[in-house]
Amino acid sequence: MTPDMKVMIAGVEFDNPVLTASGCCGYGEELAQLYPLSKLGGLVTKSITLEPRLGHPPPRTAETVSGMLNAIGLANVGIEAFIREKVPFLAKQQTRIIVNVAGATIDEYVEVSRRLNDVAVLDMIELNISCPNVDQGGIQFGSDPYLTEKVVAAVRAVFARPLIVKLSPNVTSIGDIASAAEAGGADAFTVMNSVIGTAVDIDTRRPRLTNNKGGLTGPAIKPIALAMVDAVHSRSRLPIIGVGGISDWRDAVEFFLCGATALQIGTALFVEPEAPLKIVHGLKDYLRKNKMKSITDLVGRLEKY
Ligand SMILES: Cc1cc2nc3c(=O)[nH]c(=O)nc-3n(C[C@H](O)[C@H](O)[C@H](O)COP(=O)(O)O)c2cc1C
Repeated sequence: MTPDMKVMIAGVEFDNPVLTASGCCGYGEELAQLYPLSKLGGLVTKSITLEPRLGHPPPRTAETVSGMLNAIGLANVGIEAFIREKVPFLAKQQTRIIVNVAGATIDEYVEVSRRLNDVAVLDMIELNISCPNVDQGGIQFGSDPYLTEKVVAAVRAVFARPLIVKLSPNVTSIGDIASAAEAGGADAFTVMNSVIGTAVDIDTRRPRLTNNKGGLTGPAIKPIALAMVDAVHSRSRLPIIGVGGISDWRDAVEFFLCGATALQIGTALFVEPEAPLKIVHGLKDYLRKNKMKSITDLVGRLEKY
């Protein structure tokens, strides 16, 4: 018996529940040289803004124990070049395409989303209201329930397909932010973006990132991400895409049990680009061994004390 790996999110069917995370494989071109992207449940693009951005000067990544810090600063080609240069490639890929949208102002989020509304190839957008690495926008919206609802509602009004809101762990109550996003019209959540952190070079006495701080990702943040998925799952019935420190299928199982319907793989791609494929394989084995017919049978099945 082959277990059913299909999942539905906001009316869109995914062949399997393992996607790549924003910012960890650009626009997919390099990954497609290693394996057909049809093996992924879906691909999430780097955050797209209205204008092209170079991001912060290097060093903008630093290794830590069990993780990495980054402060890329939303380097991206901008919406015009994205549509002109990246969409034709994405249109040829047999996988679900999710475009991640960022902005410094509500108007910017709206304008980028409005232009994406005319791009047939993408299945959904993921609203990044949780980037910790820019001076304006990002987490400013995602740490205030009022602004969260406002930006989500404004994008909802111009974008007709499903809208995922990517939440930040750097808040007092992620449940309150999730509720605000839902009130604004979100269809699903991605939980979570990176955790604010920094590292210091003790010889130069300078931060190891030119942005002075950055976002911690990788195995170190998995326990935080699991708790955040559980918190959002307890608060809302909307589907959750879990992300944060997933390296192998065992990690993946933990996220499904805590309430995720699908997953994204970020930092692990830098270590092992095939990680998503191995995770799908391992999940199938786990389901078979446990005599479960579908991956959806795992979702939210945590037996709490
Ligand atoms: C180098 C790098 C760049 C990232 N860029 C973005 C981005 O542009 N937009 C976004 O929403 N998240 C971005 N993220 C966050 C990831 O999508 C993901 O939420 C986070 O890395 C946690 O997952 P992980 O531990 O599997 O990496 C980035 C992460 C890394 C490591």
